[in-house]
Amino acid sequence: MAAALLLVLVFAALCLCVGGAGSTDTVSAGRPLAGGDARLVSNNRKFALGFFQSQQASEEFGGSKWYLGIWFSAVPDLTTVWVANGANPILDGASPELAISADGDLAVFNRANATITWSTKSANGSGSTANDTSAVLLNSGNLVLLDASNHSGQPRILWQSFDHPTDTLLPSAKLGRDKLTGLNRRLVSNKTPAGPPSPGAYCYEVDSATPQLVLKLCDSSATYWATGSWNGKYFAAIPELSGNVPTFQLAFVDNGREEYLQYNVTDEAVVTRNIIDAAGQNKHQVWLDASRGWLTLYATPKGQCDVYGVCGPNTVCAYSLRPLCSCMKGFSVWSPEDWAQGDRSGGCVRC
Ligand SMILES: *[C@@H]1O[C@H](CO)[C@@H](O)[C@H](O)[C@H]1NC(C)=O
Ligand SMILES: *[C@@H]1O[C@H](CO)[C@@H](O)[C@H](O)[C@H]1NC(C)=O
Ligand SMILES: *[C@@H]1O[C@H](CO)[C@@H](O)[C@H](O)[C@H]1NC(C)=O
Ligand SMILES: *[C@@H]1O[C@H](CO)[C@@H](O)[C@H](O)[C@H]1NC(C)=O
Ligand SMILES: *[C@@H]1O[C@H](CO)[C@@H](O)[C@H](O)[C@H]1NC(C)=O
Repeated sequence: MAAALLLVLVFAALCLCVGGAGSTDTVSAGRPLAGGDARLVSNNRKFALGFFQSQQASEEFGGSKWYLGIWFSAVPDLTTVWVANGANPILDGASPELAISADGDLAVFNRANATITWSTKSANGSGSTANDTSAVLLNSGNLVLLDASNHSGQPRILWQSFDHPTDTLLPSAKLGRDKLTGLNRRLVSNKTPAGPPSPGAYCYEVDSATPQLVLKLCDSSATYWATGSWNGKYFAAIPELSGNVPTFQLAFVDNGREEYLQYNVTDEAVVTRNIIDAAGQNKHQVWLDASRGWLTLYATPKGQCDVYGVCGPNTVCAYSLRPLCSCMKGFSVWSPEDWAQGDRSGGCVRC
């Protein structure tokens, strides 16, 4: 009985999905993604790509600060897995358009005056033209720019969002270095937990010397947590992964060409992510539809106070306090506005 009910529910969900036809996963010459509400949707419907505005950002800038991003379709609150222009929001009043440029790049155009505000800057010099390239949002959540001019071979990847991660590592994406090209894929935290997607202070990246993965300040060598070396199955500092985790595969690959961490899930329906959060912790999470929330499988470092400078200068971090951070005696919060949004980098100053 229960099983039959479940089957009905699953079937109903499938029907709903198929009913939403009309969207596409591709941008190509003459087929742009125009306007604020337009979306690309991956073929499996797991990911969507489009322009969005951040709540805080629009209050500050009169409702005209746009970001291009990819997010989970299944998660009700917009939860991005990648943002193109977190450091350079589009300030134009006119709604932006994602299209293939004349030289075959994927670019964001300001429709008012046809200027380019963001571009993959990858097709230039490759000999590609607009009619050869197209951008596809894959089932993995990877946005790829393809050149299909060689009709006898596979389309060539000119650019992919997985090579330019923001704060999220998705299954099958690589976190680490290409030793030949020097490309270093690392996660960068957001400045605030819920504010605009602008890059913060913390990074999760490969440390080639050991090799291992480390959490550190992006612009200095200050490391505050490390995985320790890979033993072929797991990292000593993440014992949660030492057993066999069902449907979950993890590898640290180190060869002459590359050095990276990668994880996969065998069940494509699982919605999962590995993030560095605004407070500098690395978390592996799974979305639970039943409770409509993220379940954290592990967080590192375990204690939030173990994150370097988590409360900013002249502060105290203590688990007995709610909230965690407070000013040292004789000091007061430098920027109450930033502090309230969870950006503690300004810390406290003498009263
Ligand atoms: C295009 O318009 C935007 C505002 O809508 C402006 O900021 C930008 O400078 C303009 N660019 C050119 C080349 O006119
Ligand atoms: C393309 O590359 C050439 C040479 O590297 C450079 O001079 C030119 O400005 C580039 N064009 C664009 C649109 O980036
Ligand atoms: C691209 O294709 C369109 C439509 O087929 C055609 O009009 C245009 O001349 C082509 N452009 C180039 C550079 O080949
Ligand atoms: C086109 O693809 C074929 C098959 O992979 C390959 O042998 C050939 O070298 C490619 N041509 C060019 C110009 O890249
Ligand atoms: C993940 O899947 C990709 C694509 O199938 C595969 O090449 C890679 O080896 C897998 N990685 C792990 C850690 O299982």
